[in-house]
Amino acid sequence: MTVNNDQRAQNSPVPEEPAKTLTLPDPPGWKTRWSFEELSVSYKIRNRVGGLLFNSFVTHIPIHWVRRNYLKFFGATIGEGTTFLRGLQVMDIDLLNIGSNCSIGFRVLFDARSGIAIGDNVVIASDTQFIAGGHDPNHKDFPPVFAPLQVGDYAWVATRATVLGGAHIGRGAVVGACACVTRPVNDLEMVAGVPAKVKSMRNPDALQYIPYYRPLFF
Ligand SMILES: CC(C)(COP(=O)(O)OP(=O)(O)OC[C@H]1O[C@@H](n2cnc3c(N)ncnc32)[C@H](O)[C@@H]1OP(=O)(O)O)[C@@H](O)C(=O)NCCC(=O)NCCS
Repeated sequence: MTVNNDQRAQNSPVPEEPAKTLTLPDPPGWKTRWSFEELSVSYKIRNRVGGLLFNSFVTHIPIHWVRRNYLKFFGATIGEGTTFLRGLQVMDIDLLNIGSNCSIGFRVLFDARSGIAIGDNVVIASDTQFIAGGHDPNHKDFPPVFAPLQVGDYAWVATRATVLGGAHIGRGAVVGACACVTRPVNDLEMVAGVPAKVKSMRNPDALQYIPYYRPLFF
């Protein structure tokens, strides 16, 4: 996925709707957003209040079903068997799409302002950050840039890695600890560093596990 940056010229007018170029089709049910204009005031307030309460209080409650059902109530899609530890922070809960049997660590940030889609059997380690958007720094109005991101089945994103919008993580790919992913990562590639570069390839036969993790009172 890449965002078309044709509007970057400093004096160009603010586009009515930011241009979009997805290199991947939207998966079924994957919700994305390319403009804040379409949202009603009441929807925006609901979203803001839902996120504020979750990020400030609910995320620290040591009862997983409370946190999980809260996110689902505010529009997140979360598959069966998926667990996330305390301290998760979510922007735009309604655009968070997570598959089944994923294991998500402590204090992960999902900035899902334009949509985050995570497949099945994905492992996301603690303190990682997923940022689905930003701003155009070369535009006089500093307009928002919408950049959804996807994480494929069986991917492993290791501790403290940062994944930027548009940086699709392929099936079975590995992102090393503290990496900053700025470009798409192909299936089975193991990347590391800042910016993340390919270090090796993963054994495709390894992609058979279910990374279910559910300790008591988590
Ligand atoms: C990505 C990772 C799995 C790679 O492991 P590996 O295949 O054994 O890789 P190696 O140790 O053989 O390293 C290969 C090269 O990549 C480099 N490298 C490995 N991990 C790196 C990282 N996180 N950042 C930068 N470079 C890294 C090594 O320095 C080495 O470079 P060199 O060939 O120039 O010496 C591992 O380094 C990692 O980041 N593990 C995450 C641990 C973690 O977060 N655990 C908790 C999560 S559940």
